[in-house]
Amino acid sequence: MPSFLPSYMAQDNTSWLLLILPIFLILLFKWYSKSAISKSSLPSPPKLPVIGNLHQLGLYPPRTLHSLAQKYGPLMLLHPGRKAVLVVSSAEAAREVMKTHDLVFSNRPKLKMFDMLLYGKDVASAPCGEYWRQLRSICVLPLLSNKMVQSLRGVREEETSIMMEKIKHACSANRSVNLSELFSSIANDVVCRAALGRKYGEGSGRKFMELLDNFGELMGSFVLGDYTPWLDWLGHVNGFYARTHAVAEEFDRFLEEVVEEHMNRPKEAYDSTEGDDDFVDLLLSLQRTNSIGFPIDRSAIKAVILDMFAAGTDTTYTVLEWTMAELLRHPNVMKKLQDEVRNVKGDKSHTLTEEDIDHMPYLRAVLKETLRLHPPIPLLVPRESMQEIKLLGHHIGAKTHVIVNAWAIARDPVHWDNPQEFKPERFLNSSIDYKGLDFQLIPFGAGRRGCPGTQLAMALNELVIANVLYRFDWSLPKGEQGKDLDMCETVGLTAHKKMPLLGIALPRNK
Ligand code: HEM
Repeated sequence: MPSFLPSYMAQDNTSWLLLILPIFLILLFKWYSKSAISKSSLPSPPKLPVIGNLHQLGLYPPRTLHSLAQKYGPLMLLHPGRKAVLVVSSAEAAREVMKTHDLVFSNRPKLKMFDMLLYGKDVASAPCGEYWRQLRSICVLPLLSNKMVQSLRGVREEETSIMMEKIKHACSANRSVNLSELFSSIANDVVCRAALGRKYGEGSGRKFMELLDNFGELMGSFVLGDYTPWLDWLGHVNGFYARTHAVAEEFDRFLEEVVEEHMNRPKEAYDSTEGDDDFVDLLLSLQRTNSIGFPIDRSAIKAVILDMFAAGTDTTYTVLEWTMAELLRHPNVMKKLQDEVRNVKGDKSHTLTEEDIDHMPYLRAVLKETLRLHPPIPLLVPRESMQEIKLLGHHIGAKTHVIVNAWAIARDPVHWDNPQEFKPERFLNSSIDYKGLDFQLIPFGAGRRGCPGTQLAMALNELVIANVLYRFDWSLPKGEQGKDLDMCETVGLTAHKKMPLLGIALPRNK
């Protein structure tokens, strides 16, 4: 057996080991139990030395954290290593974090994956401060504001028509439709046209999906080095950081292509949302003119583009995928929704416009119910406290990492009757919405760090689902029954269906 001891000790390895090992373990235990946060009054599941509660996160952390919260309460401390994480699992506690003390909790923790995949310079992971404020308003005004979302209506309608043609082809060739791929591709195309001026990754839908899957999985990982810095080397040894670098490099190649093209392109080759310039042009002109008070370098530009692309594509297609999966599992809901959308008068092969779907309360209820049971980012994006604070009577230290389990909150029987049931009717006579004011339903987060892309995402989701049901009747391939559909989720920042969703489309006959 190779010896790791210095050579002068090698003659009597066993006795040295017997002497050193207990001392090492005692020191380790003492050092570990000295952690400031372990003195907090908050309940916390028992932990192991070094890895803390890491082993308890399970295969699907939103679910395991939900079970732990049922035992330890809506505010508990978890230690996925040496540092502590505050886990928030009730609407009341989430309101305290994201409304009452929104400013204190509006920081993001510094995490390895943010730095490695997002250049450490994007909006979503930026610490609260002037850089974040300026970058966020750069994204909202020209891309995500009410006015801009309206002006992108033509793009959404055009892409929906293209998607309907693809379904029609599959239908006439007697092929099943890979709905996951189709939805990923329309979300990608709309976000690219909106933010980057043209489509990218066309024809490589599956490759982009895989890249985004990897990205989402890495972004949602609990990296040991973040919570136990002296064990950071493990990420190098087990290949985790090498895999992260490979994904970052692949995205970087794509982003370089986007930036280069914008610097050298003939303008008329691109869509324009307003005037001639798109979002990337705007970022490049801010870089040239240095007009926002701090320099934006090329990696910051790429980081912001990646934010829009990754935050917008993966999440939006996830909602479409889960909605269709739930509709296929609940034919009565599908029928009721079809009755609503088919009430629109006109040619059966026409593509519904946003005007056609303006008054469709059941469509909105179905999407809310999907967002309740399948929030695309079940643990939201982590926050961090900027100073010490009392939260529901408990002392929370400065720089505490906070996770809000939106998945668990949306299943809390205190707020929801039969929470596990897919029942859109619960929203028909209710004012509960997902816009960050009703804390029992917060798939887009809330407060100043809440999602600025909600409107853009939901405008597309409503249009796509309405059209898919307007023109076609749907069933599962090979006679599979809805109740047998695999509803397992992927692990990562975004939770989509583990198995791609396949459907058989038939043109409607009445
Ligand atoms: C169904 C679709 C979407 C869901 C479920 C979603 C969800 C979220 C969530 C949970 C957060 C963190 C909120 C918090 O900390 O309170 C977030 C932040 C963010 N989202 Fe979305 N999002 C979606 C679509 C979009 C789209 C279409 C875009 C833009 C194209 C976008 C851009 C962003 C950005 C930039 C942030 C960071 C905000 C900040 O830290 O200030 N999202 N999103």
